[in-house]
Amino acid sequence: MSKLVGILMGSPNDWEIITHTSAALDGFGIEHEVNVISAHRSPHRLTEYCESAKDRGLEVLICGAGLAAALPGAVAALTPLPVLGVPLYSKATGGMDALLAMSQMPGGVPVGTLAIGKPGAVNAAVLAASILALSHPAIADALDAYRARQTQAVLDLGDPRDG
Ligand code: RP5
Repeated sequence: MSKLVGILMGSPNDWEIITHTSAALDGFGIEHEVNVISAHRSPHRLTEYCESAKDRGLEVLICGAGLAAALPGAVAALTPLPVLGVPLYSKATGGMDALLAMSQMPGGVPVGTLAIGKPGAVNAAVLAASILALSHPAIADALDAYRARQTQAVLDLGDPRDG
């Protein structure tokens, strides 16, 4: 299968969290590529990447970024593909800076913004799987199986006092 998802992050330091996105995509059998491209530090490279993304067969883009977190907004401005944003923790504000930067996009240029940190990183992959499942039956099957396992794990829980 060709690569369907492009993961971008603003800094190699973001990989500590965004690795969970990549691992979750692997779990669904979704081929993907990972690149470090900064909206602030390498804007021309970002433009090239976004302008070729759809023609190269990518169907969903996932961006992890912290601080001012311009990356997913800039990507959304440059491609019609769905863009999912994962806000990353920062010391100063706990990630609220990135969360607001991604979620407060102007009308007409959406970034589907997930939770701060690891839950958002995992959910970006699950949401990408949901989008891709609409047109890729194998991914739909993998997503159904994932959700069934998740449900069964809860049903199997016993009394927490039993340890
Ligand atoms: C953002 O600035 C990156 O996404 C990263 O989360 C943050 C800090 O980058 P580094 O200074 O750690 O490279 O662009």
